[in-house]
Amino acid sequence: MKLLVIISGSVAAFKTLMFIRLARAAGHEVRAILTEGGARFVTREAVAALTGGPVHHDLWAAEESIGHIRLARWPERIVVAPASANMLARMAHGLTTDLASTVLLASRAPVLVAPAMNPAMWEHPATQANVAMLRGRGVGFAGPIEGAMAEPESGAGRFIEPADLLAALTEARPGAGAGAGAGAGALAGRHALVTSGPTHEPIDPVRYIANRSSGRQGHAIATALAALGARVTLVSGPVSVADPAGVRVQRVETAREMLAACEAALPADIFVAAAAVADWRVAAEATQKMKKEPGAGAPVLNMALNPDILASLSRHAARPRLVVGFAAETEQVVGHAQAKLARKGCDWVIANDVSGDVMGGLENRVHLVTAQGVEDWPRLPKEEVASRIAARIAKEFCP
Ligand code: CTP
Repeated sequence: MKLLVIISGSVAAFKTLMFIRLARAAGHEVRAILTEGGARFVTREAVAALTGGPVHHDLWAAEESIGHIRLARWPERIVVAPASANMLARMAHGLTTDLASTVLLASRAPVLVAPAMNPAMWEHPATQANVAMLRGRGVGFAGPIEGAMAEPESGAGRFIEPADLLAALTEARPGAGAGAGAGAGALAGRHALVTSGPTHEPIDPVRYIANRSSGRQGHAIATALAALGARVTLVSGPVSVADPAGVRVQRVETAREMLAACEAALPADIFVAAAAVADWRVAAEATQKMKKEPGAGAPVLNMALNPDILASLSRHAARPRLVVGFAAETEQVVGHAQAKLARKGCDWVIANDVSGDVMGGLENRVHLVTAQGVEDWPRLPKEEVASRIAARIAKEFCP
């Protein structure tokens, strides 16, 4: 395969040299663009030696005899590795400030991105919004992974290992940023309703009961379904992740508001209940801030059962054709999920073990439980889990 590797500014650029070596050994023809930032971490000479050809870097240089448009037409795949936060921002916004960003805008080749940056930069809402935008356009992502960084710090943002990047290149299907096997328009004309995030159940005007859900998984599912052409309504509890691009977002606070918003959004073809809805609310919310009365001790909260949104929509007169629930479990994950499938009347349950760092974390290990059986998926970034779920949903509608 003709592979154009774009190396942008990150200390992880040295690993791209190993990737190029592996890619050539696997029979790929490799050309490279080294950005100004990339050239601060690896030399043109090293990249030239490993690709066995010229290293492109300057949009305006006379020696760039190939020209940016010709260079953009050459590759069958583009791999941006490492992709810095700046590179992702330029890609997301279509900026053409150097040869790399211009070629990315001018090329129709599928793009795989391997980000590498400090965890705070990766998790920043600006970067996450750029990532969501790029995923929505079908750009594939390999990593980042969690682990030690160059700085004495660890977290998500570490460059994927070169061998894994090569494997991702082979696995990812061109143009199917939202999951293998599903074409870009597979869900065109379908309406997908997705719930995401926690709910907040008020105690009094300043206090509430909540949970650790970040909304990352539900928002990623909304993005992935939109990328397959679905019209998506996302009903979200209070979250700090960015609204996905191209999705109608309705914000709610409580479980009862979430149910009302979901019912108002019907009819829908697909319902994915990814929200961590509070099972209980305070029976009588105090209208004024509760005060500490001297000698009165701690208050006792009387709880009432919240409506079950998943069960309500599963049994609704306008039931969506495919209803998918989640099961957050800390033990007997698959067994509880199978019981939930029957109890809630849904078609599939995505079961996950939340005893570790899943809630609020960046990765998820899930089991797809249906009446036909159980599929165990590997631990993956939540966006990749979302892409796979969207691809499976698309298969239901376009077998
Ligand atoms: N759910 C819902 N409305 C609720 C509670 C849960 O729609 N009031 C949905 C969630 O969005 C998820 C599924 O039901 O898709 C499972 O939620 P979970 O909290 O794991 O299970 P519960 O039904 O609360 O059962 P349990 O507390 O026994 O685990």
